[in-house]
Amino acid sequence: MDTILILDYGSQYTQLIARRVRELGVYTDIAPGEAALTPERLAGVKGIVMAGSPSSVYDEGAPVPDQSVYTLGLPVLGICYGAQRMTRDHGGSVATLPDREYGRRPVKVTACDPLFEGVPPEFTSWMSHGDSIEALAPGFVAVAMTDNGIPAAIAHESLPLRGVQFHPEVTHCEHGSRILANFALGICGCDRSWTMERYIDEEREALRARVGSAPVLLLISGGVDSTVAAALLLKTLGPERVHLLYIDTGLMRKDESAEVMRTLNALGAAHVHRADAEPDFLAALSGVSEPEEKRRIIGDMFITVQQREVERLGLGEDYFLAQGTLYTDLIESGKGVGKKAHVIKSHHNVRSPLVEKKRAEGRVVEPLDRLYKDEVRALGRVLGVDEAVVSRHPFPGPGLGVRVLGEVTKEKCDTLRAADDIYLAELRARGLYDRIWQAFAVLLPVRSVGVAGDVRRYGWTVALRAVASTDGMTADVFEFPMKDLLAISAIITNRVPAVGRVVYDVSSKPPATIEWE
Ligand code: XMP
Repeated sequence: MDTILILDYGSQYTQLIARRVRELGVYTDIAPGEAALTPERLAGVKGIVMAGSPSSVYDEGAPVPDQSVYTLGLPVLGICYGAQRMTRDHGGSVATLPDREYGRRPVKVTACDPLFEGVPPEFTSWMSHGDSIEALAPGFVAVAMTDNGIPAAIAHESLPLRGVQFHPEVTHCEHGSRILANFALGICGCDRSWTMERYIDEEREALRARVGSAPVLLLISGGVDSTVAAALLLKTLGPERVHLLYIDTGLMRKDESAEVMRTLNALGAAHVHRADAEPDFLAALSGVSEPEEKRRIIGDMFITVQQREVERLGLGEDYFLAQGTLYTDLIESGKGVGKKAHVIKSHHNVRSPLVEKKRAEGRVVEPLDRLYKDEVRALGRVLGVDEAVVSRHPFPGPGLGVRVLGEVTKEKCDTLRAADDIYLAELRARGLYDRIWQAFAVLLPVRSVGVAGDVRRYGWTVALRAVASTDGMTADVFEFPMKDLLAISAIITNRVPAVGRVVYDVSSKPPATIEWE
């Protein structure tokens, strides 16, 4: 498949470039910036992006690409550090700016270049750099300038090498998408062959070849990834060979386990095994209130129950284990999203001896491992997964275990479940759910005095959280319409007698995290 290879030098924007190009229908692969450009690495590659970096080209140990990148004959686009690296590697110079350029900046296109086809001669770009090209390298010309006389874009006179010092991948950059399209589709000549239909065909073929006639076990969390993975497996291998294991921890939201079962049945699953482990989890958590200790206990209990239930299923030794791992979990030199996602999922994906054993046997299949989260959602839609599941907010592995602050008891979980259910139902009814990246209620270990009728009430405090984010790495507080907030608070305190007070969390991430524990 036609691919744009992105060389990653550690910029927070690398993932964004990959996603923006994929939105054009062109597959992107991310490789460590210093990776050798071997024929295997270059299979299908029609163009290369050298991305940004927190380093300066003058730093000791600043990352350097395999120098063959410039002589392969493939079009190359350097973005920010990538453009400065290209300049330096060809004998030009880069200097530190007296003031870091950050934010919107006018750009004037000064020469005819296919990178700017269809782009007006003046537009507003998005800059974020502390270094800048000082003297162009021999053979390069500036094809666009910023208003303060800095080359905004450069191109080589005879080789297919280009660079921009602004960030076309950032949505604030006017015509950024057009510039990326001019590169990927126009200059590199990529087909728009990255479609979910094509992904399904390729993955189905790969799965059949890999798994043969063996059974496949998939652990279901109830979230988008494992549900879409289940849909793909069922569609490819049929219901008889696909075994789905769902561990009900008792830390799920209201009616969630029943909904998970309904979704799997609707997808045609024949072997769904639901393990009721609520007593195990609650007993292990009894008397424990320290957050990390709770997480560790929940993670360990997952493993214990997983081993027990897999033995109970009696699938023999030859079965494959399927996982809903995403592209962001895999990126080798992953910075930001990739690295974080890896840590977040540790108790599901990495530490589990079951996964390690199957991996050592070469019997793990990960049919979503080339996809970003938004692409998993698109895939789910093509596969007919219910929209309510596909567009669901993320839910952490330890579930209500980290949303009942302090000691976790069944009674507290029930109280939180009731409040959270009202909150989410109201968000849906008020058309707010899809405007929010993640919303949930938290039960604080704080009781306060109130009145109900003429009676004094001593009730728990519920905190409501709603954040806007793109990947959970950073988050802004959702600007809740006050009238909705007041109405939801009143409904919760009316309908859940154990709750006496509702507060709204107005902390962004950083410095807070999205979850409270
Ligand atoms: P924080 O609280 O770190 O959360 O800002 C960022 C995102 O990750 C989710 N999260 C988890 N997901 N297991 C998971 O599968 C976990 O232990 C875990 N902790 C946090 C959180 O819900 C948010 O979407």
